[in-house]
Amino acid sequence: MSSKPGEQMPSSKDAKPLPAHVAIIMDGNGRWARKRLLSRVRGHERGTETVRTIVKASREIGIRYLTLYAFSTENWQRPKAEVTALMALLKNFLKSEKQEMIDQNIRLNTIGDTRKLPDGVRKILDQTLTATAGNTGLTLTLALSYGGRTELVNMVQEIAGAVSRGETDVNAISESLIAAALDTRGIPDPDIMIRTSGEMRISNFLLWQLAYTELFFTDTLWPDFSRGEFEQILQAYQNRDRRYGKVSER
Ligand code: FPP
Repeated sequence: MSSKPGEQMPSSKDAKPLPAHVAIIMDGNGRWARKRLLSRVRGHERGTETVRTIVKASREIGIRYLTLYAFSTENWQRPKAEVTALMALLKNFLKSEKQEMIDQNIRLNTIGDTRKLPDGVRKILDQTLTATAGNTGLTLTLALSYGGRTELVNMVQEIAGAVSRGETDVNAISESLIAAALDTRGIPDPDIMIRTSGEMRISNFLLWQLAYTELFFTDTLWPDFSRGEFEQILQAYQNRDRRYGKVSER
């Protein structure tokens, strides 16, 4: 990119709204490493640097919610050494970013079954969640041991339980009741979902929440994903016509 970060984002009062919520499937760390004859873990290390870049960019641009697919329920099936390395990277990321999040008014949030994470990760995660709980700037949600179908199963169990105990009437089950029983309760649905590395799949990410989300796929591998490309996607979003099944107002 020839321009400086931030320069491309429209700042005039006529600018169309920024997305409130950006969700990202960070894919391609392994391929980035393989292309360089490096270990997959080196790819994840470089991917962590991109996480820092995109969190900072989101905060500076004024995105309200950023959700990153950091570890899926399926990722537990990767080789043990890779899982261990990913957990260590996550722990180091939280350790190094905790103070930054406090200082920069970032609220950390998680979706997924974080009880499955190793104790050391849980500890720093819980500390950071508590320390940033009152922050009002960017909400950074890390999807950790997250799977969309598991989230839906949990939601059905919660609502069915309430019905069977007589606390909820079947006819009271609504979209808003369902949304309130998902891990993302309180967070608006994503306006944009970006997937890097050329794969065109949703891969069990935010299955309910992506219903009307604008999808962006880029061939760029996650470690190479830059602030410039992120800003280009935000601009492209601003030029899309979101109709939600209705007729265009244009
Ligand atoms: C996909 O690349 C990436 C992951 C499964 C993990 C994402 C993790 C990070 C970016 C680093 C740690 C996260 C945080 C929040 C500090 P892949 O390994 O599937 O790549 P491939 O498809 O090319 O093999």
